[in-house]
Amino acid sequence: MSAEHDRLFIRNFSLTLVGLVLFTIVIILAALAIHNQLEPSENPAREAARLDRLQPVAGVFAGETGRAAAAAAAAAAAAAEPQVAFGGSLDGALIYERACASCHEVGAAGAPLMVANAWAGRIEQGMETLVANAINGIGAMPPRGGRRDLSDEQIEISVAYMLDMLD
Ligand code: HEC
Repeated sequence: MSAEHDRLFIRNFSLTLVGLVLFTIVIILAALAIHNQLEPSENPAREAARLDRLQPVAGVFAGETGRAAAAAAAAAAAAAEPQVAFGGSLDGALIYERACASCHEVGAAGAPLMVANAWAGRIEQGMETLVANAINGIGAMPPRGGRRDLSDEQIEISVAYMLDMLD
């Protein structure tokens, strides 16, 4: 091998190395440029793992006693919900039969019977007053006929039903 040949080889080899180094730098710069343009993406697996870490370490299982206590608490909450009479029915006839007829059908406690002349003077007061008196109670009639779970709307509907019965 001649010295000339060696020199040529070293020169070419060096040029190749320099070329490769430059190429590497270019690739790195390009990668950085692209990376900076990308939105930083949320890793859903990492988010799930984070939420998982925030979970309480353990639930308390209090056995049958605990279950019974939970059921009792739920029942108490349900009972505390305001209950509307007759499942909230807006059927005037149904409400009248079940809550008003006991007095108004027989004249109990001096309740006006369901005949026109018993109501003549009362009707003059107007629907609003009749309903208000039925809600608040009047004379021997207790508020809402004694059914405090009747809504204002239900009282109004049953009064309207009673007045309809008169003619
Ligand atoms: C416990 C018996 C009783 C029950 C139950 C009852 N009422 Fe009466 N009601 C009366 C009596 C007594 C009066 C007459 C009061 C008075 O004028 O002194 C009356 C009067 C009324 C009047 C006339 C009020 C006025 O201003 O003149 C209306 C309207 C009325 N009742 C509606 C109802 C409705 C609706 C129901 C059912 C939700 C009902 N009542 C249930 C006893 C009862």
